Amino acid sequence: PLERLMEPGSIGSLRTKNRIIKTAAGTGYADKDGRGTERMADFYGAIANGGAGLVIVENCAVEWPRGTHVVPTGFRLHHESYVPGHALVTAAVHKHDCPVFVQLMHAGPWLAMLPGMGPQERITASTIAEEDMPPSVWDWVPGHELTVPEIHDVVGIFAHSAELAKEAGYDGVEINASFYHLVNCFLSRFWNRRNDEYGPQTIENRTRFYCDIIREVKRRCGNDFAIAANINAREFGLANGTTLEEAKAMAPYIEAAGADILQVRASSYGPYLEMLFPETVLYPETPNLDLSDLDISRGGPGMYLNMSAAVKQMVSIPVFCAGRLTPELGDEALREGKLDFVGMTRRLIADHELPNKVAAGRADEIRPCCGCCYCVETRMDDGPQSCRVNPESGKEREYQITPAVKKKRVMIAGGGPAAMEAARVAALRGHEVTIYDKAAELGGLLPIAAVVKDHERESLVGLIRYYKGEFAKLGVKVELGRGVDAELTGKVKPDVLIIATGGKNAIPRIPGLDNRKVIDSTSLHRKLKLALRVFGPEWLGRLTKIYMPVGKNVVVMGGGVQGCQLAEFLVKRGRSVTIAETGEVLGEGLPYLTPVRLLNWFRDQGGVALAGVTYERITDQGLEITTAEGERKTLQADSIILALPLEPDPAAAKTLQSAAPEVYQIGDVKEFGYMHGAFADGAKVGHAI
Ligand SMILES: Cc1cc2nc3c(=O)[nH]c(=O)nc-3n(C[C@H](O)[C@H](O)[C@H](O)COP(=O)(O)O)c2cc1C
Ligand code: SF4
Repeated sequence: PLERLMEPGSIGSLRTKNRIIKTAAGTGYADKDGRGTERMADFYGAIANGGAGLVIVENCAVEWPRGTHVVPTGFRLHHESYVPGHALVTAAVHKHDCPVFVQLMHAGPWLAMLPGMGPQERITASTIAEEDMPPSVWDWVPGHELTVPEIHDVVGIFAHSAELAKEAGYDGVEINASFYHLVNCFLSRFWNRRNDEYGPQTIENRTRFYCDIIREVKRRCGNDFAIAANINAREFGLANGTTLEEAKAMAPYIEAAGADILQVRASSYGPYLEMLFPETVLYPETPNLDLSDLDISRGGPGMYLNMSAAVKQMVSIPVFCAGRLTPELGDEALREGKLDFVGMTRRLIADHELPNKVAAGRADEIRPCCGCCYCVETRMDDGPQSCRVNPESGKEREYQITPAVKKKRVMIAGGGPAAMEAARVAALRGHEVTIYDKAAELGGLLPIAAVVKDHERESLVGLIRYYKGEFAKLGVKVELGRGVDAELTGKVKPDVLIIATGGKNAIPRIPGLDNRKVIDSTSLHRKLKLALRVFGPEWLGRLTKIYMPVGKNVVVMGGGVQGCQLAEFLVKRGRSVTIAETGEVLGEGLPYLTPVRLLNWFRDQGGVALAGVTYERITDQGLEITTAEGERKTLQADSIILALPLEPDPAAAKTLQSAAPEVYQIGDVKEFGYMHGAFADGAKVGHAI
């Protein structure tokens, strides 16, 4: 099974047991002073224990406070006193026979907006005026152009940090020269407008700063201390941004300077948003932008493989890339010679055991990552990273599986995410668990979400499959078509009852709801569930492109995640859609990076999205509203669909509240908490009982 992926590899003088590299990704598990912690060590230790070939610890500033792009707790390695925190991490990874690097980074012009830090500290290759910058979501402060002696100082700062890394036990460092960090400012013709030997006139000059750093690190740390390099092989959205041809020309210089492995990436500015997460670039539809050199044939996964293949032609050191790669795709790319190692982050967060499962031929047991970028969203404002589907990630110690002191009979009412995760954890701990759900299918609202959510469809279906597999292994019984009531609890006599029956559909109190144009969420769900029993989410998603009992002009009541994604679904099926939201904000709860994209796309398709409206009544013409500006009008509609956020359902919970000695309420029945909240709730109770 996936033999090439599992084949040992070499990086300089290092050996890896397979070709999977956990790429750098900020966790926010450092302490308030940016030091490594037990929590961070537990996380990276668990990734290593899961079988990764190499772990690259997240970006780490080589200088402080100048140098970090995060406030206030930028993870860093600039001083001797930071070595012990890093040593915790290296020891935890080495325990599992896995080499470990740390990514060294200087934010350069993207320095955090720290008090007292002015443009002078915002060091860069060239000062670029605000007028020269294309529009972006980021604020721009022109920085200070480094003088040549200052450049030499920064080379020393990088090398000093690498020495500290070696002292802390790292086997190597990755020197971050991608994104828009300081080193990339020299590599790119957009950022570099100098007239000296570090200027953009030649590839040699552009790479000089980077190569100086690599050489100095090797000189101080020795040849066996590995260096991973990374570069933007394309910079999209910038005039004079790096091209693939230029990146190919840079690679031999980087190799000659002493790099042992090279990561190929792309970066983007302005309308492209986040190139790090390839599937988001193509959401909700492939944009009308220059996407040349990218392989978009799989909708995101493997988007950078063509570029890594091209760069690989130029060097003899190993080359890798990341970007939604799956084990299968990685193995195929290895066979085709497009890369030498397979970079992954999110799939390893969602399931730390992914490499071990692949090695054991149990790839079907991998918990799928949804590509929802909730893990990225949790990092905003330097928060701790957390995963939607794997609540244990980052809480490895707290959520270690401890056998239950007393084996209990656990009854779970409901079959959605909260219920499934609670069942899995409780069963792992030795409890006897049965799930009861009125529905005919496991998964609560997941199968319905899988019909509507285009780009997450596959992984949501995969998640249900994952839990079914776990339940079969763990002996969790699943009784479908059977709700929990007093009669059942009286008969089964559970020690623990977990109520996870879900929220209820909110219904606005306005006249006309009984109009035949109205499709309320309950009847919509009922119809979808019926159809799902026959077709399954993948087929149903496709069939609705041919037929759906929804009129041409649709008004969607609700502009949160449910309403917006439903609107996307309808527009993609040829409907004219108006979203009417009572709150001030549209797109609340949509995955990170998607609100702007989705709403812009929606408007480009002729959709209308209104926030701050008041619903007045429903008539034969459509939905009558008062707009945010106070104008009363009717939104003409053939169909009106209710897509409001779920509300807690205390009445449902109350009937069962004393049906067992221990009763818990989890998920939306208690409080609406999106998918991540449901999985997290399930884990919490599963560990507590
Ligand atoms: C939460 C999070 C934080 C990240 N932080 C970094 C980082 O510190 N340095 C870096 O080079 N890449 C960072 N990345 C990008 C990843 O290394 C990787 O390139 C990206 O997630 C695409 O790979 P994937 O689809 O396998 O997740 C981060 C990714 C995530 C999800
Ligand atoms: S939060 Fe979402 S994207 Fe991130 S690892 Fe978890 S499932 Fe994947």
